[in-house]
Amino acid sequence: MKKIHNNIHELKALNYPSLIKYMGSKSKIMDFVFDGINEVYQGGDICDLFAGSASLAGAIGQQCVVHSNDIQSYSAILANTYNKAYLEQDTPKIDELINKAEKIVKKNYKALNISINYSKDLNLVEFNNIEQAQQALIDRQFQREWHLFVKNYSGTWWSAEQCLWIDALREVANEYKEKPIYTVILSALMFSMAYASQGTGHYAQYRDAKTESSLSDILIYRKRSILNYFIRKYNEVLEGLSDESPYLNHKTSTMDFKECLKSFKGGVVYADPPYCFVHYSRFYHAIETLVLYDYPTLQVQKGSVVKGRYRDIRHQSPFCIKSQVKGAFEDLFKGVKISNSNLVMSYSNTGMIEVDEIELLAIKAFKGKKIEILTTDHQHMTLGRKNDRQRDVKECLLLVS
Ligand SMILES: C[S@@+](CC[C@H](N)C(=O)[O-])C[C@H]1O[C@@H](n2cnc3c(N)ncnc32)[C@H](O)[C@@H]1O
Repeated sequence: MKKIHNNIHELKALNYPSLIKYMGSKSKIMDFVFDGINEVYQGGDICDLFAGSASLAGAIGQQCVVHSNDIQSYSAILANTYNKAYLEQDTPKIDELINKAEKIVKKNYKALNISINYSKDLNLVEFNNIEQAQQALIDRQFQREWHLFVKNYSGTWWSAEQCLWIDALREVANEYKEKPIYTVILSALMFSMAYASQGTGHYAQYRDAKTESSLSDILIYRKRSILNYFIRKYNEVLEGLSDESPYLNHKTSTMDFKECLKSFKGGVVYADPPYCFVHYSRFYHAIETLVLYDYPTLQVQKGSVVKGRYRDIRHQSPFCIKSQVKGAFEDLFKGVKISNSNLVMSYSNTGMIEVDEIELLAIKAFKGKKIEILTTDHQHMTLGRKNDRQRDVKECLLLVS
């Protein structure tokens, strides 16, 4: 390892398994982010203040202590998979999980008593009739526990059968709640949900089959097996796990960034706040609900549950609201200054506020400190299915040391 300051080693972006598709993930530009971190790193812990898919925790591995924070609970599960999970003697092999989940699905499939057959040739009307019958499960009263996905999401991003598997694997995961493998099971399930979903990589809206071509595309996803994707990811993560608990004392939290900064001292804060007006709590509500499994009240409009079946109470980030974004950056800089840390902050030239304006706010907040901007060309994943899947942008890093 190269030394960058007295006795301080340069941090390197390591390979790590990808767990979810995430808007704004820095996985593709991790080397660039590490260049920025190494510029200001003088030892100590790193706080990933807006961790999202926890890519930083994955890439740092066990090189230094990471405090991974995000307001969304699924982020903590992903971070713990990367930096806290390890193998124990009784860590379940995949067959054990499959056997348990299969029994649950078999029983519940019978009790559901509706037709979910996508294998024969279906025309648009037949297909949409099947979907509507599944969507109507939202009004059914279930007597058994662990029915959240089959009730709320059948015929949306997933078929009722896929939802039965999601509920079953979630139920099985709960048996391991106190074990380090718990977060791995949930992460593998989030992965399979993403790849079996008929949506576009997030859960803001599912697609309707309006034409023959959208029908045939949606059918591809309806026929995908939640279990197969789950098996693939669970085995992949397991293979990379150590049989010793991590020697570094990593931390994970689900706080608002201002609260988190109050508990962090020294080291480097890596801040990757949202860039645009869409709220992550809307785009990723389904995996938040998977983790919390709290049977949330769903958002209602004009007396009906809205199509996206969002959680009624969702976090609204000030970084996504035009009238609040400037104040949010002022709060961020104030918190970093009080924490006595150096800062590396990601933003893009297509954000809610100009990079020049952010730089001015930083100069005002960090008087006497060195401020630098690094930029790189990048393609943002837009998570649409059409022409505009990627957009060229300039990714910037604001460094304060
Ligand atoms: C651009 S994404 C981070 C992406 C992450 N660096 C990665 O590579 O996956 C921004 C994150 O900020 C989180 N967030 C938004 N407002 C927040 C707040 N007030 N406090 C903490 N986290 C917040 C969102 O949940 C989202 O995961």
